[in-house]
Amino acid sequence: MPAQLIDGKAVAAQTLADVQAQIATRRAAGLRAPCLATLLVGDDPASHVYVRNKRDACGKVGITSRHEPLPADLSHAALLDMIDALNADDEVDGILVQFPLPSHFNTTEVIERILPTKDVDGFHPYNLGRLAQRQPVLRPCTPYGVMALLAHTGVNIKGMRALVIGASNHVGRPMALELLLAGVTTTTAHRFTRNLDQEVANAEILVAAVGKPGLVPGAWVRPGAIVIDVGINRLADGRLVGDITAEAARARAAWITPVPGGVGPMTVAMLMRNTLTAQQGRERASG
Ligand code: GUN
Repeated sequence: MPAQLIDGKAVAAQTLADVQAQIATRRAAGLRAPCLATLLVGDDPASHVYVRNKRDACGKVGITSRHEPLPADLSHAALLDMIDALNADDEVDGILVQFPLPSHFNTTEVIERILPTKDVDGFHPYNLGRLAQRQPVLRPCTPYGVMALLAHTGVNIKGMRALVIGASNHVGRPMALELLLAGVTTTTAHRFTRNLDQEVANAEILVAAVGKPGLVPGAWVRPGAIVIDVGINRLADGRLVGDITAEAARARAAWITPVPGGVGPMTVAMLMRNTLTAQQGRERASG
C-alpha cells in the first residue's frame, strides 16, 4: 500500500489558525499584537521569497511585522547596532535575521547578539541549550514543525528508532534533540557516516535534512517507515524535489511528506507560534 501523505500545508494552516485565534483573544482583552522584526541583508532572491512568506504569515495571524531591507555592503558593526536597538525596543517581541548573510558577517556573533527572549528562530545557544536540557523555550522552527507533523500522524513515536541525516546547527542537530526529547532512539548521520544505506534501512523514522537531491534512494527506505523530507532542491528543469527519491520511497513508507507542501510551510507556521510565545514569555518576565 502506498504511503499516506503528511499534508504540511493543512497542518500549517491549523497552526496558523490556532495562533491567530490566540492573538485575537489577547487583543480583545486589551493586549497589543505581537511584533516580529525581520532583517534582510543583500539581494539573494531565495531569501527575499522566504522573508516575504514570513511577513505574509504575520499579516494573516495578526502579528505586526517590521522589516528592514539592508544593503549587502552593510558593515558587521552596523548590523549588531541594529540588533541592539531592536533588543532594547519593548514593542519588538521577535527578531529574525535572515540567513545566509554575506561572507563578511560573523554569523555566530549575530546569532548571539539577539536577546534569547527575542530569538524566535531558536538559534541562540541559550535556546539550543534549553532544548538539550529538556527545558525548551524558543525551539528552532523547522525541527519544531517536523515534530508537529509527526504528532499529526497519530503514531506513538516513543521508543521508535529514528535516523536524522544532516548535522547542521539549524536543522539536523536540534532535530535530533527534539526526537530525543520525545523519547525516540535517535541516530544522526553526516558526511563521515559509513554505510548510510544500512542506517536508513534500520530507521523507523527517517528525517533527511541535507539539501542534496537523490541523497537517499527510495529503495533504501524501511518498509512502513515514517519519512520526513526536509530538503528543498530546485532541479535544472525547475522542479522542486527533496533529498529522498520520492516515488520509490512512497511505495515503501507508511507516511511521507511531499516536497513541496510538507515541511516547508511548517517552518513559517512555527515562527508565528514562536513570536507569540516570545511575547508571552517577555510579559511574564516583566511581571
Ligand atoms: N535561512 C534559511 N532558513 C532560515 C531560517 O529558518 N531562519 C533564518 N533566520 N534564516 C534562514
